[in-house]
Amino acid sequence: KYLFPQLRKYTKYKTVRHYSVNKKVEKQEEHVKTTGKFVPFLQTINIRRSEARRSIIVQVQSTQSFKELWSYCNSIGSVKYMFHYSIGIEPLHFIIVEFAKEEDVKSLMSCSIYSEGHSAMPTQSHFMWFKAASKKIKLKQSKSAKLFVEHGTQIKVEEEIKTSLSKCESVSDQIKSLHELTKLNEVGTRLRFLTALQIEDAVTGMFPSAIAYPFGSSVNGYGKMGCDLDLFLRLTDDKKKEDGRLVFHCKPLNGSERTMTQRHMEAIGDMIHLFLPGCGQVRRILQAAVPIIKYHQQLTDVECDVSMSNMSGVHMSDFLYIMGELDERVRPLIFAIRNWAKIVGITNSAPGRWISNFSLTLLVLAFLQNPQSGKPVLPTLNQLGQLAGKNDQFLLEDGTDCTFLRDITNYKHETKNTDTLEELLIEFFVHYAHFDFENKAVCLNDTAVIAKPEHTAMYIINPLERGLNVSRNVSIEEVTRFKSEVKNAAWVLESNEKSLNWGLLSIQTAPNVTNSMFQKAVAAQAHAKAGRLVEIKSIFEKDAEDMKRGGE
Ligand code: CTP
Ligand code: MG
Repeated sequence: KYLFPQLRKYTKYKTVRHYSVNKKVEKQEEHVKTTGKFVPFLQTINIRRSEARRSIIVQVQSTQSFKELWSYCNSIGSVKYMFHYSIGIEPLHFIIVEFAKEEDVKSLMSCSIYSEGHSAMPTQSHFMWFKAASKKIKLKQSKSAKLFVEHGTQIKVEEEIKTSLSKCESVSDQIKSLHELTKLNEVGTRLRFLTALQIEDAVTGMFPSAIAYPFGSSVNGYGKMGCDLDLFLRLTDDKKKEDGRLVFHCKPLNGSERTMTQRHMEAIGDMIHLFLPGCGQVRRILQAAVPIIKYHQQLTDVECDVSMSNMSGVHMSDFLYIMGELDERVRPLIFAIRNWAKIVGITNSAPGRWISNFSLTLLVLAFLQNPQSGKPVLPTLNQLGQLAGKNDQFLLEDGTDCTFLRDITNYKHETKNTDTLEELLIEFFVHYAHFDFENKAVCLNDTAVIAKPEHTAMYIINPLERGLNVSRNVSIEEVTRFKSEVKNAAWVLESNEKSLNWGLLSIQTAPNVTNSMFQKAVAAQAHAKAGRLVEIKSIFEKDAEDMKRGGE
């Protein structure tokens, strides 16, 4: 696999347990065939979007309700798949029903009803619940009914992961196992696309060409179970129709683009809060460089970040997706490094002066493009840019050029690098232990050494918006901590001492450096999840007071 990564056209099989309508609970092996053929990023997004359009989410009493639900849905349309998932400790059960055609969902919605007895906004969406039948019904027997149950949304507990890793044969196997155990699964992906569809459907009455594009770790191949959903909501279509003679009357925009985006996002935030079922804890972060609305979709258990101002995040996700597709070692290695960084406290999903998961991913990719061995695993963005065809040309409204090869099916990517995952992991740590962050920038466009254009602690050139530094927020203390942790990890892995916590487990110990701002942000994030905004405010107000008094 590693010697000939270009021979990626193999067939993968997933093992799935299923319940059957005929027998009570049949534990039978089912092979869902998925081909390993490369599918371009925007095409995968469109396939998943259309799958979401053909699907509904139904809250049910228990997994056993599926037979009745299957029978009911099949009396209206043709059911293709059903996936079960549950949320919470006293679990609420849900089933994703995928139909063969979008029309089936429309027919089903046309005969669905609103709940009686209590007042609620009468919105229609792909989220429903299954009412008990008023009279006993006889179920139709069918061999084809399947409920996929092994793709739930449960995140594996740390102890379970540790036990699996300790049983592996080598560090490389540990890295592969960690990837398999923690990556976003089928149900997780479907739930994210259904969450996106809810927003899109909510605005298409007024904006018929609106699209909610999922981007970031949910779709770029580096997402783990439970990851957030980044959404870019675009209201207009950029395909120009020049031959029309009737022109729509539209409201003129008053004010700067940024002010207008902020106002529109406020309205979208209100709409999410007031009208969309399952959506709560809406937070509007409109003063940020990229204004966003955060909310929690309780029926899919997905945390969302909606932005409306920049499509470059979607193209960036395409670039990261291609990098992961070019060589099988890339994704497992990035999972291992992101997991290590989280445990030792280098990264944190709360915004702050530390390295983000996205910056860390770029650091790994830059290393793979230009390792010390002189044998690159990955091409640079400029190399992909030179191979771009007519359909790969994307120039954004602000002039950002996002042109690079998108379909790598016929791209002969040959690497002389045959290092194992374990070797690459150690090389990554050594690479950044020696990296001159003080004077040099990290660049993914080219392998040439580039001097830092401005004085910031860490400079990672944004591969698409080349004038921007992805790690502008990172403080000098965090760079020092990063360097000390990579040195430590390289040393521990190379010393190769066999102990209970060997290999990956040996470098994944909690941080020994206390960092009060960091810990406060972790606490603030926990409070935010619980919707306790007042407490966050008091945490940071206290910080401001401390600073005024000349404290930390
Ligand atoms: N992004 C970008 N430029 C930045 C920050 C983010 O283009 N300066 C884009 C990237 O495509 C990134 C996405 O926005 O993947 C989402 O950012 P973020 O949620 O911070 O990172 P993820 O990759 O989604 O990782 P995580 O799992 O931590 O959410
Ligand atoms: Mg994200």
